[in-house]
Amino acid sequence: MRIDLPVLTERFGANRFYQVQKIYELDGGIEQDDEFSNPFHVIRQIPYERLYEIEKNMAVIIPVKNERLRLLEGVLSGIPHACLPIIISNSQQTPIDRYRMEREMVDSFCRYAKKKYVIAHQRSPRTAALFKAGGYTALLDEEGFLRNGKAEGMLAGMALARILGKRYVGFIDADNYFPGSVLEYVRIFSAGLSQSNSPFSMARVQWHSKPKIVEEGLYFAKWGRVSRITNEYLNRLLGYYTGFETEALRTGNAGEHALTMELALMLDYSAGFSIETHHFVSLLEKFGGILPNPDTESMKAGVDIFQIQSRNPHFHAADKGDEHLGDMIGGSLSVLFHSPVCPDALKKEILGELRKRHIVGKNELPSQPHRYPPLAGMDFEAAAKVYDWTRQSNFIHT
Ligand code: GDD
Repeated sequence: MRIDLPVLTERFGANRFYQVQKIYELDGGIEQDDEFSNPFHVIRQIPYERLYEIEKNMAVIIPVKNERLRLLEGVLSGIPHACLPIIISNSQQTPIDRYRMEREMVDSFCRYAKKKYVIAHQRSPRTAALFKAGGYTALLDEEGFLRNGKAEGMLAGMALARILGKRYVGFIDADNYFPGSVLEYVRIFSAGLSQSNSPFSMARVQWHSKPKIVEEGLYFAKWGRVSRITNEYLNRLLGYYTGFETEALRTGNAGEHALTMELALMLDYSAGFSIETHHFVSLLEKFGGILPNPDTESMKAGVDIFQIQSRNPHFHAADKGDEHLGDMIGGSLSVLFHSPVCPDALKKEILGELRKRHIVGKNELPSQPHRYPPLAGMDFEAAAKVYDWTRQSNFIHT
């Protein structure tokens, strides 16, 4: 990949939030081109051999809930062969067993492609047993199963990736119509993470655009309705502390993102669709220098957050309606509202925004999404003993 150098950086405590980087070439060549070592070069070359080093250590987690099988199959076809796909499904099992259909499709796809994979149902006793044995019970509901929700599926995927020895985790939604964009997202993950010298880093995709049919033509909308609002308030939070207005944060709701395992284990998480905005909240709380953080290693190394704009437009299953969007805005702004680093003045503005949009009633306060502690507290050795997940990832069916 050939990509802009991120010249502007917002530093916030140990966090380095880099400006959005533009891709010049999706394929930047196999080997390092020495011409790019010139310090005056404004474009960075990340050769394929470097991307491959990361991808072979990466699990790509695909959360899925009742999506079309063809879309899921297309997503699988876009994931580079070196990566391990981990599919965490919360699809229905009665009256029609959609999970079984997914399993059969994934199994035969991966047999043909000779690809390793892992698939698990979010609500299965085996998945629950993993977390019980690992002592990470926050994810379990009253019946002892994993809670419902996208974030909860993502956490299950991260734990499995850790047990399987992966060093990086990336996330791709299952409802993507363009396998080529899936390949690009993973390349963005590896290109993003390859730029960091710190073990704690994250790469977030800013979609180039989201095409919509308006009257008889295509309209390439740049901002989703949710991310427009989330980014505005995230930037205001940053600006409040630095004293300078900023537009640095553009990926407040990036469903497509990747982390080093070190960072993935250290952050805490928020339920459902608020998880991506909460990444920023957790970064500011843990590494922002406002609240104490006794972990000297991460505070010294710093945390790199890369934002990269894709070349492909994002074309996914139809918007799930105003109520779903309202839930997403509510979730994203609530995690900001409830953070101890959110100043009172901003809380007031967030409340006004939520009330104006009728997401929160006139005399109500936003409810706080469920929070999950860092996965670092899980006993992975004990969890790994419950079931040999490597058997699955060698495509032996169980
Ligand atoms: N395992 C699991 N469990 N997966 C789920 C669940 C669940 O409870 N709920 C949804 N998913 C899966 C969906 O099947 C899809 O693959 C993915 O999670 C995203 O869900 P959507 O319902 O399609 O979300 P969206 O398109 O509205 O929003 C996406 O993009 C936003 C950015 O615009 C999500 O990725 C958001 O998190 C993101 O902020």
